[in-house]
Amino acid sequence: MSIPAGTAERVVPTTGGFRSAHQGLAERLACMHDELRREFPGVHRVSVAIYDQRTDLLKSFVDSSESSNPFEHTVARLADLKGLSQLAKTGARATIADLSAHVSSSPAHVRRLVKAGYLSSFTMPMFHKGTFQGFLFFNSFERGYFSAEVVQRMKPHAEVIALSTIMELDGVRMIQAAVRTVRQITRARDEETAAHLERMARYSRLIALRLAPRRGMTDEWVEFLFQFAPLHDVGKIAVPDHILFKPGRLTDEEFAVMRGHVGKGIEIVDTMADTFRLGAAPYVRILRNVVAHHHESIDGNGYPHRLGGDAVSLEGRITAVADVFDALTSARPYKRAWSNAEAIAYLIEQSGHKFDPDAVEILRVSEAAIADIQRQFTDDGSD
Ligand SMILES: [Fe+2]
Ligand SMILES: [Fe+2]
Repeated sequence: MSIPAGTAERVVPTTGGFRSAHQGLAERLACMHDELRREFPGVHRVSVAIYDQRTDLLKSFVDSSESSNPFEHTVARLADLKGLSQLAKTGARATIADLSAHVSSSPAHVRRLVKAGYLSSFTMPMFHKGTFQGFLFFNSFERGYFSAEVVQRMKPHAEVIALSTIMELDGVRMIQAAVRTVRQITRARDEETAAHLERMARYSRLIALRLAPRRGMTDEWVEFLFQFAPLHDVGKIAVPDHILFKPGRLTDEEFAVMRGHVGKGIEIVDTMADTFRLGAAPYVRILRNVVAHHHESIDGNGYPHRLGGDAVSLEGRITAVADVFDALTSARPYKRAWSNAEAIAYLIEQSGHKFDPDAVEILRVSEAAIADIQRQFTDDGSD
């Protein structure tokens, strides 16, 4: 199992947003881009998009652009991008010498590049252990910049960028795999069904993607939040079965034990980060915030620390709304499933008290996207 080189040396401040605190791939990409430009001054943009095989989605991830990033917070189905699908299948690389040549008949993403001033491109699919992972995009303001000779000489740089991306994602997968294993060993099943976790992760991404531009968060942050949202209740492995599976109401003492899952979860994250020497990786802070804050409230009446206001991280605010929305709209042994409208009405009632108003508002106007997620991940046959 590989550990991203240099992660142990990275220093992460304990406060501040992901953009300012972030010493991860986005910053490394900016450094690699600087390096690349010394030899290839015409490479004006380097960008990484990653691929989610389960949903066929291609997602903008990190970007180093000379002008503004034309694809920030963009998600598209790979099947809808004909040329790119072909490259993903064959592993071939592609150069376009003049993006502006047939701009009116070009796909929308090419038109967006031209609008941002880019005139030529070099695209490289990334693979890890034979599986397609995403694309590396290089763009230039100059027509015909990516000659066969330039592409050939750029190859080692491109490989290093691809490897850095894959290693960063590996660290995330390693944590997910570790948590999943722990859960499987200690708990045969609980009410957190696989489908619940899939849906709440996707509601979290839906909210995060819409909130990111307003709160100055990166696509990388959106992705990590999506990856880590399902781990919010990792601490429940420490809650005894007779409490976790109690069909009736919990006593005050039992409820106190149940609430302890947050503190236990933080302990687990910290131990894992230490064990895998990932403590300084920026994404660990996202995971920690998800686990630590998903039961805190904006009005300070949540638990375990009654934080309130800005002390509740954005990660915590988003996962709280996503988690509660899915819990309400799912049937449990002791309750029927609420309709989406009923659940949204409850979130609105609690907006600004328990929940972040922006996060609630995004769910309120996302009827179609919510229905899509519910269609895709049903409780039948899952878990
Ligand atoms: Fe929880
Ligand atoms: Fe949950």
